[in-house]
Amino acid sequence: MQIGPFPLANPVFVAPMAGVTDRPFRQLCKRLGAGYAVSEMVTSRRDLWDSLKTSRRANHEGEPGPIAVQIAGTDAPMMAQAAQYNIERGAQIIDINMGCPAKKVCNKWAGSALMQDEALALQIIEAVVAACAAQSVPVTLKMRTGWCQSQQNALSIALAAQAAGVAMVTIHGRTREQGYRGQARYDTIAAVKAALHIPVVANGDIDSPHKARQVLAATGADAIMVGRAAQGRPWIFREITHFLQTGTLLAPPLVQELRRWLIEHLDDHYRLYGEYTGVRSARKHIAWYLRSLPGGEAFRRALNGLESSALQVAAVSHYLDRLSFEMDRLPVVYDTQGRRLDAPSDSEKEETPMNPVPERASHEQ
Ligand SMILES: Cc1cc2nc3c(=O)[nH]c(=O)nc-3n(C[C@H](O)[C@H](O)[C@H](O)COP(=O)(O)O)c2cc1C
Repeated sequence: MQIGPFPLANPVFVAPMAGVTDRPFRQLCKRLGAGYAVSEMVTSRRDLWDSLKTSRRANHEGEPGPIAVQIAGTDAPMMAQAAQYNIERGAQIIDINMGCPAKKVCNKWAGSALMQDEALALQIIEAVVAACAAQSVPVTLKMRTGWCQSQQNALSIALAAQAAGVAMVTIHGRTREQGYRGQARYDTIAAVKAALHIPVVANGDIDSPHKARQVLAATGADAIMVGRAAQGRPWIFREITHFLQTGTLLAPPLVQELRRWLIEHLDDHYRLYGEYTGVRSARKHIAWYLRSLPGGEAFRRALNGLESSALQVAAVSHYLDRLSFEMDRLPVVYDTQGRRLDAPSDSEKEETPMNPVPERASHEQ
């Protein structure tokens, strides 16, 4: 599996998730087995590039390559400039967002709303490909199956994108209308894969090694992309890659391994966001890591009262040290059919994609 000139370690990718897949989380996912990661989307609005939010999203310090940055917007020249801006800041691959269902993105005719207007979508793709070609930077595209049940045009956009020079297409197997409801469907992804010669990535509801294998078989896709199931579970990538390579399931991680990963994740997170924002935005990550562990829910409630990074780290260490007296390894989460026993509830799964963290002084979009 290769994107343009970049060979990838394996075909199991972490999905871009605004507010989640920042640089510290991407790096941890890559260390724990993800073959590729795309940054959270960066707006094409130049007036927001100096905002704290955008500059953090454009931070790739120490991240192993290839560095892939996702851009979102509605205007072809602005998208071309956004690609250029991110290439100057280290992007080696540019991904165009045509998949995000968030109102704040779609109301401005960006994200998945672009799938409603194929001519505009193509203008944007062509402008971004032209801006990137000069620097030999590959362009990729992420989209849904279509806008709604009656307008599933992923295939026609994918074919046009391929003809325009796009190097890889990722499809989330839902329409914009579905949001995150219902089950992802893989037949459209299979049809796109059958019609294209560039790599196609399947995305949507992959939450276990068995599901990963099923989706690869059902779609024939070159790779899979995992989003929500990686929240608080970045080791899912090594579980999936191990299963795809050997057909056997890895033992769950040691509690002490989780302790080490989580504390390293938190330290890196505080370094990127600073003390005030970092403590607040770390809460959701900690809650995800611990949600299915004994006492995890009570711990999550107590966490909201802790106002410093030192207190958060001490509480996490104390909780996991105590847990390691009770168990060496985290509880088994897959049954013999490979279904997740700790599957998050539907409401947790449908959590809003945009969850901004209150910030003291920022100019967030
Ligand atoms: C919190 C959150 C934020 C997301 N942000 C983005 C984004 O910035 N760009 C994008 O293309 N998709 C975004 N998505 C969609 C995911 O990349 C992915 O397509 C979707 O979650 C389906 O995959 P999953 O079932 O494995 O979670 C987001 C999803 C979530 C849950």
